Amino acid sequence: MMWSTTLAFAALALPFGASTRAVSPDVYPSPPGQGSGRWAGAYASARKLVTQMTLEEKVNVTRGFKTDANVCAGNSGSVPRLGWPGMCLHDAGNGVRATDMVSAWASGLHVGASWDRNLTYQRGLYMAKEFRAKGVNIALGPNAGPLGRTPLGGRNWEGFSVDPYLSGQLNAETIVGYQDAGVIANLKHFIANEQETYRRPYSGVEAASSNLDDKTLHEYYLWPFMDGVRAGVASVMCSYNRINNTYGCENSKLMNGVLKSELAFDGFVMLDWNAQHNLQSANGGLDMVMPYGGSWGDNLTHAVRNGTVTEKRITDMATRSDDEKKTLVPLLVILTTDRLCRILAAWYLVGQDAPDFPAPGVGMKNLSLPHEPVDARVPESKPVLLGGAVAGHVLVKNVNRTLPFRSKPKMLSVYGYDAAPPPTKNIDTLFQLGYTSSQEMGQAVLGTLRSFDQAARGGTITTGGRAGANAPPYMSDPLSAIQHRAAADGTWVNWDIASTTPDVNGATQACLVFINAIATEGWDRTGLHDDASDGLVLHVASRCANTVVVVHAAGIRLVDQWIEHPNVTAAVLAHLPGQDSGTALVRLLYGEDNFSGRLPYTVARNESDYPVYAPCGRGRDNTTDPQCDYTEGVYLDYRAFDARNVTPRFEFGYGLSYTTFEYSSLALSPTRALCATPPSSPSSSSTNSTHDGLWDVVAHVEATVANAGPVSGDEVAQLYVGIPGAPPKQLRGFEKVHLRPGAAATVRFDLTRRDVSVWDVARQRWVVQKGEYPVYVGASCRDVRLTGSLVVE
Ligand SMILES: *[C@@H]1O[C@H](CO)[C@@H](O)[C@H](O)[C@H]1NC(C)=O
Ligand SMILES: *[C@@H]1O[C@H](CO)[C@@H](O)[C@H](O)[C@H]1NC(C)=O
Ligand SMILES: *[C@@H]1O[C@H](CO)[C@@H](O)[C@H](O)[C@H]1NC(C)=O
Ligand SMILES: *[C@@H]1O[C@H](CO)[C@@H](O)[C@H](O)[C@H]1NC(C)=O
Ligand SMILES: *[C@@H]1O[C@H](CO)[C@@H](O)[C@H](O)[C@H]1NC(C)=O
Ligand SMILES: *[C@@H]1O[C@H](CO)[C@@H](O)[C@H](O)[C@H]1NC(C)=O
Ligand SMILES: *[C@@H]1O[C@H](CO)[C@@H](O)[C@H](O)[C@H]1NC(C)=O
Ligand SMILES: *[C@@H]1O[C@H](CO)[C@@H](O)[C@H](O)[C@H]1NC(C)=O
Ligand SMILES: *[C@@H]1O[C@H](CO)[C@@H](O)[C@H](O)[C@H]1NC(C)=O
Ligand SMILES: *[C@@H]1O[C@H](CO)[C@@H](O)[C@H](O)[C@H]1NC(C)=O
Ligand SMILES: *[C@@H]1O[C@H](CO)[C@@H](O)[C@H](O)[C@H]1NC(C)=O
Ligand SMILES: *[C@@H]1O[C@H](CO)[C@@H](O)[C@H](O)[C@H]1NC(C)=O
Repeated sequence: MMWSTTLAFAALALPFGASTRAVSPDVYPSPPGQGSGRWAGAYASARKLVTQMTLEEKVNVTRGFKTDANVCAGNSGSVPRLGWPGMCLHDAGNGVRATDMVSAWASGLHVGASWDRNLTYQRGLYMAKEFRAKGVNIALGPNAGPLGRTPLGGRNWEGFSVDPYLSGQLNAETIVGYQDAGVIANLKHFIANEQETYRRPYSGVEAASSNLDDKTLHEYYLWPFMDGVRAGVASVMCSYNRINNTYGCENSKLMNGVLKSELAFDGFVMLDWNAQHNLQSANGGLDMVMPYGGSWGDNLTHAVRNGTVTEKRITDMATRSDDEKKTLVPLLVILTTDRLCRILAAWYLVGQDAPDFPAPGVGMKNLSLPHEPVDARVPESKPVLLGGAVAGHVLVKNVNRTLPFRSKPKMLSVYGYDAAPPPTKNIDTLFQLGYTSSQEMGQAVLGTLRSFDQAARGGTITTGGRAGANAPPYMSDPLSAIQHRAAADGTWVNWDIASTTPDVNGATQACLVFINAIATEGWDRTGLHDDASDGLVLHVASRCANTVVVVHAAGIRLVDQWIEHPNVTAAVLAHLPGQDSGTALVRLLYGEDNFSGRLPYTVARNESDYPVYAPCGRGRDNTTDPQCDYTEGVYLDYRAFDARNVTPRFEFGYGLSYTTFEYSSLALSPTRALCATPPSSPSSSSTNSTHDGLWDVVAHVEATVANAGPVSGDEVAQLYVGIPGAPPKQLRGFEKVHLRPGAAATVRFDLTRRDVSVWDVARQRWVVQKGEYPVYVGASCRDVRLTGSLVVE
């Protein structure tokens, strides 16, 4: 049959080295969407519309056009003859970017630290309502990559976690939230887009090539994308980097083979801006180009008609008959039809054909010009914004119950450049968040940041920089929020946010020191701590017996310079809380809300403890063809610390509460679906992810969690499984429960077949191996409270 794809890849797991140049195999043709399941109605509508379109109209829908009518990051073409309005595509991560009258949400990493599925869904839903009100059809998120292979990654904060399971769960919640609000989610960046260094070809140097084996691809980087596709994501963004030396947006193995065949993805693939380099991407599986016509546009129509798009395919098929070759031209016309069905089905899937759907870009006016602002905010989102801001704060040290402040403090002192708001909030600093200018990094992070500075010294940070950033309606900064509270309590407040060597009033009850670590799209970080900020902490700590350190951090921030200082009595990794930052912090400091965040990554004692530290570059030979060999496989973050027996400072999943929790009564109940994959399974060419019962529940795990302390609090119970031949522990479940003092709850985890599977490269499918699978339930990856095991026969 014409469309059957041959998934017969070379099943090599060769270590990469100087002598082995990684190659990505070709997988053609690009499979059409099936329109199965939830997509059925949308495909029917899309097919009906497409049959009425001319080739020119079809091509129009697959590309962008420049317009002065709005500042959307991209505008697709429209089909006026048939009343199809086109689409506005826009960033993204923290809310609607580069516009006014919207909310600034907690960043991805902050939400990752909440480990809260419902909160994540609510955030996605309410954020997307704002995109919809602004006339944005496609929100350019959420983010399942970078996951955080290098802790220096400039965009790690845009995603939820370095852990594929946690990332996958929260990406899925976000996607459902976006699409429930009528906005097309765009899961990005596909795939292995793990660093900003050499992320794009520039000045004769190719983009870095992420060279990874098939097992690592499936068990780590693809994992959260699988969750996204299962959640019904309507579009995926291919990435700037190369994978096995083929650019992401022309990689047919990944787009045609993995995404569209194996995962049976029915939505469309859009590129990261300008990430198209030639017409070959049309055959490789790319469906839409942005921001303008890319290498196709007007020329695609021509190329399809004259056969150029098939050139490579024709070369590959030199042995085929002339008749077969002739079929390729009409085939590619059909391909274009398929491309259209995928895009238009996405539009129908989320209900954008509704008569009340706002016109594309209607609320996205150029802010420099007179405009009637469209207020996109809805009152119901306020508790979600504040709840989200609270939930991503992780308390990592709290000796002698320093926190919460027990009574109205008589005197507090506040230090550090990160305590107060940045000096300016205007169009330059906040709205035009760096499309192209060389100042974009500085602009992105509120004013004064210079490239390669690890901290943003111009004021507190509530977001990282560039595409993931957006402008807040107001910014509740820590110092203002503390002052507000002080006014109510009669507390005397001292502050010095300018000096790096401030004086300390000896009568102060506590000193709060605010520092930060910034990151932005476009640059990787240059380190995980900076001496100037650490020096400030040490200066205060040497003069103040009760020093509380708060770190706003766009990623992993090491704390070993001061965490064991006897006068540092409490420390908070506060991440990027969005507009309600100060309010949220004060609620936590005073015990009105209680710390419930847990680290979505490992904090090491030293940089050198990370399995991969620096981004890869041009190497000793100063090559123009940078290669990143993922030789570490899936051994990243806690998987590597466990396997190599390295003690972290604060492990993955760690976080303190104002109360304590006890675990008991572990119960494991395997279902009949828990069995090893038979060796003589169906041939690999007929398998895709929906075949293998991957989502069947194979075991239920239950445990009781009780609040054994004096106050209410939230626990994040975590389930880790040891799969034979895989890392010692891998996260495979989590459940956040709120418990009053003395109360207990049963936490339940459903293990799916995928959760206990490994990717079998030779058979090109997920398999469950025979053997014993240790099961750990606890409060972090190292704080295991209950242990059991499942046996697969
Ligand atoms: C990359 O190359 C490795 C080693 O040959 C192979 O296992 C893997 O399938 C390739 N992946 C892609 C996406 O090309
Ligand atoms: C293609 O889209 C552009 C931009 O929306 C529009 O001006 C033009 O009329 C469209 N062309 C066709 C053939 O519909
Ligand atoms: C989810 O969060 C919303 C908003 O905070 C809340 O109203 C709702 O009760 C929550 N649902 C569950 C199941 O916890
Ligand atoms: C994947 O398998 C399912 C279930 O058999 C089938 O309906 C679907 O068409 C397949 N998708 C692809 C792209 O092969
Ligand atoms: C399309 O073709 C025209 C002329 O054939 C050429 O000038 C233009 O650069 C091409 N556009 C792209 C995006 O390749
Ligand atoms: C086919 O069209 C493409 C795109 O316009 C053009 O670059 C190419 O030269 C054309 N080839 C032939 C044989 O006309
Ligand atoms: C907004 O309008 C101003 C003034 O006309 C112009 O300089 C600027 O480039 C426009 N910005 C965008 C993003 O279109
Ligand atoms: C904590 O309390 C104990 C007992 O009161 C005391 O010895 C110790 O110095 C206190 N530690 C700090 C850091 O205040
Ligand atoms: C802790 O703070 C007190 C001031 O209250 C100071 O005298 C002492 O030297 C500090 N301890 C250290 C180890 O710096
Ligand atoms: C800490 O990490 C840095 C950067 O990788 C390295 O230069 C240094 O030697 C490490 N220090 C220790 C004590 O391991
Ligand atoms: C590497 O090559 C670039 C040109 O691509 C050149 O500017 C640079 O100086 C070279 N660096 C070294 C260390 O040779
Ligand atoms: C948090 O703990 C305090 C005591 O420290 C308690 O009074 C309060 O009810 C708790 N808040 C929540 C939201 O559980």
